[in-house]
Amino acid sequence: MSDPLEQPADSLAALERIAGEAEAYLASLATAPVRLGRSDEAAEAFDGALPDEGLGTLAALGQLIEPGLDAHVRSSGPRFFHWVMGGATPAALGADWLTSLLDQNAGGWDASPLASRLELLSLRWLRELFGLPANWDGVLVTGGQMANFTGLAAARQWWGERHGTDVSVDGLTGLPPAPVLTSGFVHVTGLKALAMLGLGRGRLTTCADSVGGMDLAALERELRDLDGAPAIVIGNAGEVNTGLFDPVEGIADLCQEHGAWLHVDGAFGLFARVSPRTAELAAGVERADSVISDGHKWLNVPFDCGFAFVRDPELLGRTFAAGAAYLPEAAEDRPIFAYRAPELSRRARSLAVWATLAAYGRSGYRAIVERCLDNAARLAAQVEDSNDFELLAPVPLNVVCFRYRPPGTPESELDDLNRRISEAVLTDGRVYVGTTSWGGKVAFRPAFVNWRTTAADTDLILETLRDLGSRPAS
Ligand SMILES: Cc1ncc(COP(=O)(O)O)c(C=O)c1O
Repeated sequence: MSDPLEQPADSLAALERIAGEAEAYLASLATAPVRLGRSDEAAEAFDGALPDEGLGTLAALGQLIEPGLDAHVRSSGPRFFHWVMGGATPAALGADWLTSLLDQNAGGWDASPLASRLELLSLRWLRELFGLPANWDGVLVTGGQMANFTGLAAARQWWGERHGTDVSVDGLTGLPPAPVLTSGFVHVTGLKALAMLGLGRGRLTTCADSVGGMDLAALERELRDLDGAPAIVIGNAGEVNTGLFDPVEGIADLCQEHGAWLHVDGAFGLFARVSPRTAELAAGVERADSVISDGHKWLNVPFDCGFAFVRDPELLGRTFAAGAAYLPEAAEDRPIFAYRAPELSRRARSLAVWATLAAYGRSGYRAIVERCLDNAARLAAQVEDSNDFELLAPVPLNVVCFRYRPPGTPESELDDLNRRISEAVLTDGRVYVGTTSWGGKVAFRPAFVNWRTTAADTDLILETLRDLGSRPAS
């Protein structure tokens, strides 16, 4: 019972068990509560010491499913608007199951020609989807965080080399602090990447206008003061609370003039380029040196998946080089992705990326993006037309930043009121909406990236928040 070797057929039985759950589960996504009120208690059911004797495959899966479904959040469903999290398209979901079945290591061609070839091709298709230069290249990583790390690692390598130092070999010792400049829109994962890279999250210079976006005049002053010393600039294509964009084209002009590296975080905002309605927002990204985006956001592949692109992939090669006697050597047309990425052994994320792009193509992704744009615009209009909600920022893309403001409520009470709703909405189950602080005010910031979300799902947002807001404080 405890040794899988005694029950080799269990693998198929395990898959059948999960496939059996899938039918009801997928049907529930449209209507079941996003999260149950008892989810925390259900999660606590998982406890106890490591069993001496295992339960066996199906019993263990049964125990995983039972409290598991009560404890999980239907984040791949259409009424989940928290963070910026997509669902999984049917093709991506199927390919992801196949990924686990085949259990490929995407480290190199000898470990998996399939994963390596599909990574090469997926990256090419993504460049085509986003209109990035054909001679760039990149790598699939676990998400926006590691993509920012990867792009900024290439930037650090470039910066070291400008000082005559190969940072990947000799480290940072003896080098001056690296100037890194950005706007107030920088995402926390950019800061964490700087921390991990030894560049220091606290050494960042912020050039922000009154809203937080890049102040081009301030950036120009900073770059001029560096007097030709190499610098790294982070542009933000899609601020997480509002979807606002830095003026990437203007930043690219300054970086070009002053010889600075331009890294653009487009974790979800790069998808603006998929629709002619919003492409202009991310104009100039093609002039950057490194650009990142996420797969598990608007591409709607399952967790975890992100991608980093660089103008000069050799920099990734020098940064993440990891040759060893037992490992393969890269060939001209066969890059070893483990030598471009932080990880050596890697999940074959390319199967899901390839499958979803093959299944829906350019027009399918344009449809997904535009549906999300329509839903965001619909919600923004509802907020503006109401007398009890207040829009706190423009809505250029897919995030709507607003708060509840019923007539007659004093300003001094609004933060508490919105905080109270924000706590209630996370266990209410009708919609799942995240909260933030914007302009010093507690605000909601639903983000639309899920392919399943309809106008009717969108309409539930204000209805639910209004209902929760009208309840007396307990
Ligand atoms: C602008 C931006 N950059 C980076 C990230 C981090 O992405 P991930 O959560 O995939 O690491 C996010 C996540 O929301 C984001 O909005």
